[in-house]
Amino acid sequence: MQRIAIIGTGYVGLVTAVGFAELGNNVIGVEKDKEKLDLLKKGFPPFYEPRLEELLKKNFENGRIKFSDSVKEGVEKSDIIFICVGTPPLEDGSADLSQISVVSKEIAEHLNGWKLIVEKSTVPVMTSQWIKRTIKLYSKKEENFEIASNPEFLREGSALKDFFHPDRIVIGVESDRAKDILLNLYKDFDCPIVVTDINTAEIIKHASNSFLAMKISFINMISDLCEKTGADIEKVAYGVGLDKRIGIQFLKAGLGYGGSCFPKDVRAFFKIGEIHGLHFGLLKETHKINEQRIERLMEKVKSALWLPKGKVIGILGVAFKPNTDDVREAPSLKVIETLRREGAILKIHDPKAIPNVKKIIEEDKNLKYVNSPYEACEGAEALIIVTEWDEYRGLDLKKVKELMKTPIIIDGRNIFNPEEVTSLGFEYYCMGRGNYLKRKD
Ligand code: UDX
Repeated sequence: MQRIAIIGTGYVGLVTAVGFAELGNNVIGVEKDKEKLDLLKKGFPPFYEPRLEELLKKNFENGRIKFSDSVKEGVEKSDIIFICVGTPPLEDGSADLSQISVVSKEIAEHLNGWKLIVEKSTVPVMTSQWIKRTIKLYSKKEENFEIASNPEFLREGSALKDFFHPDRIVIGVESDRAKDILLNLYKDFDCPIVVTDINTAEIIKHASNSFLAMKISFINMISDLCEKTGADIEKVAYGVGLDKRIGIQFLKAGLGYGGSCFPKDVRAFFKIGEIHGLHFGLLKETHKINEQRIERLMEKVKSALWLPKGKVIGILGVAFKPNTDDVREAPSLKVIETLRREGAILKIHDPKAIPNVKKIIEEDKNLKYVNSPYEACEGAEALIIVTEWDEYRGLDLKKVKELMKTPIIIDGRNIFNPEEVTSLGFEYYCMGRGNYLKRKD
């Protein structure tokens, strides 16, 4: 059993905190945001994540996890301190490390005995060295700490599963003492544990996310070629992905990547290259291809509807991917804004993310959030699939057709079987499956 503080209880921090508590450790989560803290102190998570509420409640009730707004309390009552605060993008794409800097100073002020300070937020390589220097500079007592890096690889929507069953654990350390503590913390995990120096660990994280984003942009690039030539991107991805050196995962063409990690990390990694005099043009192109996905969708909308102005369009899905209520950098936001600018009348559904999107885009006479996917279909002249929720895959398409004014589906995530949809009389526009369109002209 270890005494652990988790500074910052966003997605990464809270899942990590609950995970370590579930493994039998004593965890204190430090959160500065009053609204979030109020919920946490009652044992409720401030965001949706499968199993999180159940496991938080359990460990809250058995006393293995508690919450505070005080870094002092977190530091003083623990031996291992995980820094999990946000590193949002600055205007130029680089990571804003100000929260890490503030927390480092606070940790320095309250050190009471030896501590292991572990960086978990995604950060530019060499950030841990800055944390170390900051703590040394601001620590009142003699230095009594070590730093380490232990990057997270948690996907939203399956974050707890990823916590308990990771592909690998990466530990960047400077001493055997730090290594042994972290190996002991992860002793029950059945996966490879990669022990490296700290800079290497930091690069592993950024390189992993950038590579996955690159895979997505690559398949989207090929998807455009499939569209021009009548080939089928789903089959191309399958044929390519079966090569074990490439792998089948993350080859799903569509509206591109969103969320709080990939868009930010790709740009930040490009900047890191620049700082070190290197040109990561591959990542610039990855980002550019991703940005163009919305234009591709809009081309389809215009080819289907001619002018979107005054037309009723149902939008299915606003979360940046299924099984989350997160809309950060979600493709849906750009889709909605673009269609709004074009004067379309929108009926928008999502199973979980409506409260979050409402904070960004308000309802008005031309934009309504609806409670069921069928409601979004009522009187619609086109239906756009933006997020591939299972609920949408199981829609009764006959009913959808009856409800719609004109049976047009624009599927940004290729969730339907083209033969089935077109045989029901829909015009079906999808991504990279050019032959399947059944236009009425
Ligand atoms: C990601 C990483 O996977 C995780 O390891 C890291 O620690 C945090 O960032 P997350 O942002 O939760 O996790 O989502 P992920 O499942 O990786 O998907 C990212 C985006 O890529 C989503 O918008 C998704 O729709 C998109 N995507 C994913 C595709 O467009 N095609 C694919 O084949 C896979």
